[in-house]
Amino acid sequence: MSNNIESVLSEDRVFDPSEEFSANAHVKSLEEYEALHKRSIEDTEGFWAEQAGDLKWQDQWDQVLDWSDAPFAKWFVGGKINAAENCLDRHVEAGNGDKIAIHWVGEPGDTRDVTYAELLEDTCKFANAMKSRGISAGDRVLIYMPMVPEAAVAMLACARIGAVHSVVFGGFSAQSIVDRLGDSEATAVITADGGWRRGGVVPLKKNVDDALAKYDGVKTVFVLKRCENDVEMQDGRDYWWYEETADASADCPAEGFDAEHPLYILYTSGSTGKPKGILHTTGGYLTYTNSTFKYIFDHKPDSDIYWCTADVGWVTGHSYIVYGPMANGATQVMYEGAPNFPDWDRFWEIVAKYKVTTFYTAPTAIRAFIKAGDEHVDKHDLSSLRLLGTVGEPINPEAWMWYRDKIGGGRCPIVDTWWQTETGGIMISPIPGAIPTKPGTATRPFFGIDAAIFDESGNPCGPNEGGKLVIRKPWPSMLRTIYKDPERFKETYWNEYGDTIYIAGDGARTDADGNFWIVGRLDDVLNVSGHRLGTAEVESALVSHDDVAESAVVGRPHEIKGQGVVAFVTLKGGVDATDDLKKELRNHVGTEIGAIAKPDEILFADRLPKTRSGKIMRRLLKEIVAGGEVKGDTTTLEDHEVVAQLKEEFDKAVHS
Ligand code: PRX
Repeated sequence: MSNNIESVLSEDRVFDPSEEFSANAHVKSLEEYEALHKRSIEDTEGFWAEQAGDLKWQDQWDQVLDWSDAPFAKWFVGGKINAAENCLDRHVEAGNGDKIAIHWVGEPGDTRDVTYAELLEDTCKFANAMKSRGISAGDRVLIYMPMVPEAAVAMLACARIGAVHSVVFGGFSAQSIVDRLGDSEATAVITADGGWRRGGVVPLKKNVDDALAKYDGVKTVFVLKRCENDVEMQDGRDYWWYEETADASADCPAEGFDAEHPLYILYTSGSTGKPKGILHTTGGYLTYTNSTFKYIFDHKPDSDIYWCTADVGWVTGHSYIVYGPMANGATQVMYEGAPNFPDWDRFWEIVAKYKVTTFYTAPTAIRAFIKAGDEHVDKHDLSSLRLLGTVGEPINPEAWMWYRDKIGGGRCPIVDTWWQTETGGIMISPIPGAIPTKPGTATRPFFGIDAAIFDESGNPCGPNEGGKLVIRKPWPSMLRTIYKDPERFKETYWNEYGDTIYIAGDGARTDADGNFWIVGRLDDVLNVSGHRLGTAEVESALVSHDDVAESAVVGRPHEIKGQGVVAFVTLKGGVDATDDLKKELRNHVGTEIGAIAKPDEILFADRLPKTRSGKIMRRLLKEIVAGGEVKGDTTTLEDHEVVAQLKEEFDKAVHS
């Protein structure tokens, strides 16, 4: 991270949006943004009441915000709303049923265009199929799907009947499914036979079967046929999607649910071994994703073709593939597979084919494209693009400039969007027609967001002083709790500066113009390819292997992934430290969590540096893997030799 800090401190390139972009934008100037932001902070509830008015409410709310039990918020108290109705029926009723909702591209090259009317029909049929298998409001449903339109249908069908979805990324393992089923106590699973990835089939149904061998609370499994790979269907439990929906009625009334009815649980990594179930509710979440999508992507429903390359298994897919864009009635591209299949120009081919105007991806993907070579970009006409976005991790200025010049042809503003699973929607980002951009900064808070940087004692930091990023006012899409663990919710996010100050867990600073520069996580959470990974999670996966006595995991800078995973492992007595065992341990982490968690480097260590009270000194391990001198205070270290030894081994390993 130190390079990052230096480069952002000296960054002085500023890019204004073009006059033409600003003239056509929802927010046209910095002055307009500042006036609107000021008003939204002075009268936050008034602002959100207005924004919520864009949606269809079945019952009007009586109170915009109830913050009397902070940090437990209630938004739009007394209101009743159906999220699926807002994402589908509303557009069909307005005469836009024939508008394309999804231009879908399968990895093998098959394509489908799905209109809003068709998406509504599919959602109603599937919702009725779920109902007839006894699933009802409040039930938890785990979704483990490839990137196909039915993934959105599954989520919207849950929302329609008030079932709470919990989507698990298709790259996660059977064990991850077991953990999430156990915590959410889900009774149904929606999956597919498989999904295509880099020319192969990801055996989704098989992973579900393996998970269900260890968890018996699931009564119903719906299986979409996607890859036609062989799967086992268990009688009385597993049902084919196409059979269940064949005769289902396309009429499924959208019942209004309480604004605070749970919409979904999404698990994300924290600083302990167990992922946390982040709970989002309905009315506030939809209001916030609807507004942020409109303003941050400067969305024009009649002319924009939007594409977010995330997977629905992450919060980006929830908020900016399903709920935000669909509440806006957007036309979007959805792509099933890998960015480099069959070759590195796959994304650009798709942009050119569908004349994508708005493209949203992760810095790690941009770095991979840079490495793959400009020739892949040069093959395609990207002149339809008018706006670019990034999400998930700090973007290095070099990647930002390449993205702007090479992909955006120097004319497209870039919205570097900072947010989190917990925030539900984008919190800090340029409003593209209004806020000048600089490589590496997410710039300014969204309307209604009161962001600040605090020092240790809770005082706001001055410009260019590093501190903790906090949010001083509640916002509609904030997480409501950690599922079944309100205490942990309070302790994790509201523990330091009182019950009303949200602590994001990121270090940041502002510059003299009020731009926010996010440096990275302050806790033991890594950001690997834009995805959160708890070091403790990887450690528990490693020690669950029979041969491992102890392990400590740290991150180190990685050219493409942002951060790579380095694991120090102490083996049990008598176990041989072989390369084969390293391979086995990497695969073991893959089986316990998923491929993204596999360590880039495993180092066997006879002992780990510890304090006299037995605590592993991670700071020293971080310094060792950062490659420089180990300079920090080592006076509390019990055994001084161990650091020199580990450093020598690490240097050997990375240079071999
Ligand atoms: O450290 C920040 C980083 O990603 C974390 C949130 O991860 P997750 O909940 O998985 O959500 C990712 C997608 C919203 C944050 O705490 N992060 C996210 N976006 C940015 C970022 N860091 C810097 N710049 C960003 N634009």
